[in-house]
Amino acid sequence: MTTRFVEIDKNRELEPQLVEAADVIKNGGLVAFPTETVYGLGASALDPDASKRIYLAKGRPSDNPLIIHISKSEEAEKYCFTSDLYYKLAEKFMPGPITVIMKKKDIVPSTVTGGLDTVAVRCPSDKVARELIRLSGVPIAAPSANTSGKPSPTCAQHVRDDLDGKVDVIIDGGECVIGLESTIVKICDGNVSLLRPGGISVEMLESVCGKINIDKAVREKLPDNVKPQAPGMKYRHYAPEAKVYLIVDDNSSDFENRAVKFINSKIEQNPKTGAMCCSEICRCLNGEYIKDLGSKNDKAEHAKKLFAFLREFDETDVTEIYAVTEDESGIGLAVKNRMLKASGYNIIEI
Ligand code: TXA
Ligand code: MG
Repeated sequence: MTTRFVEIDKNRELEPQLVEAADVIKNGGLVAFPTETVYGLGASALDPDASKRIYLAKGRPSDNPLIIHISKSEEAEKYCFTSDLYYKLAEKFMPGPITVIMKKKDIVPSTVTGGLDTVAVRCPSDKVARELIRLSGVPIAAPSANTSGKPSPTCAQHVRDDLDGKVDVIIDGGECVIGLESTIVKICDGNVSLLRPGGISVEMLESVCGKINIDKAVREKLPDNVKPQAPGMKYRHYAPEAKVYLIVDDNSSDFENRAVKFINSKIEQNPKTGAMCCSEICRCLNGEYIKDLGSKNDKAEHAKKLFAFLREFDETDVTEIYAVTEDESGIGLAVKNRMLKASGYNIIEI
C-alpha cells in the first residue's frame, strides 16, 4: 500500500485540507492523525472490517479495545449509557486529554471493544482531530499510531517510522502538545476509577468528582494471573532495547548529588550507558548519551519529551539506561507510570 502524506497548515482553513482523509475514513480506510496527546491510527468506529485493519496494521492483539473519538462530548449519548457524572467530567475536561469508559450501546461493534460490554470515549481538543471526525461523519476508533509495543508517536515522523506502507494516509499536524496518552477513567455504579494517568491529573479529577479510586495497575506491576481493568495495561510497553533502570526521587536534600554520583560511576564503568533525567541532574553528567527532560519543576516538558527520547535511544548503541522520575503531583504520576512501564518496573535504590 502507498501511504499518502498530508501536511497541515494550521493558518489555513482546515476543511479543504482534510476532506480527502475524511473520505478515506468513510470508505473504511486507515488515517493516522494528530491529537493533543499522541498521534492516533483512525478508522470508522462503526465499521467492524475497518477496525480489524487497525489491529492488523499495528500488530495489536484483538482483545485490546479501541477508544472511539467524537467531535462533541454529547455525541457519547449515541454510543454508550452516559450519566450525570459523565457530563460533570465532560463539562470540565472535554474537549481534552481524557477518556471515559461506560457501558456500550449495541451500535458499537464488538470488534472495537475487544468483546467487552463497555466502550471508551474521548473528545480530543486538537482542532485537526476534531475537524477530521466531524467531516468523516462517524466516530473514529483510534489507538495510538505506533507499532504495538513501541512508544506512542508524538510527531508524524514517528508514525512514518512505524506505519509507512501500512495505512492509507498520515496527517502531519506537528508535534503533540502533551506527549503522553490521555487519562483514562471508568465510570461504574456512580464511582470513578483511574485506569491510566495522563494530562488530566488526579487532583483535577478529584476537584470535580471527589475522591476517586486509583487502579492498582497505575503504580504496580500486576501479578500474571490478575486481569487488568484496561486490557492494554498487560502488554509490554514503551521498552527500549537497552535495559532501563528507574531511580525515584526520594525527596531527600542530597538526592540530586547522589543521583549524579551514581549515574556518573555507571558511565565510567560502561561508556555505553544512557541517562534520562531533569536538567539539574543532566548538567552534571559526563556521558555521551544524556537526554535532558527539562527543568525539575517543568513536568509538562518531561511528558512532552519522554516518548521521543525512548525512540532515540533505540537509534544508539546504549546497553543500559538510567531514568530518574520526580514526584507524582500533576502530570508527574503519568510520567512515572510510563517510566515504570518502560523499565519493566525495574526500580533501583541509590
Ligand atoms: O491519548 C489517547 O488516548 C490516544 C489518542 C490517539 O487518543 N489513544 C490511545 O489509545 O492511547 P490506545 O489504544 O493506545 O490505548 C487505549 C487504552 C488501552 O490500554 C485499552 O486497553 C484501554 O485503553 N481501553 C480501551 N477501551 C477500553 C474498555 N472498554 N475498557 C477498559 N479499557 C479500555
Ligand atoms: Mg497505545
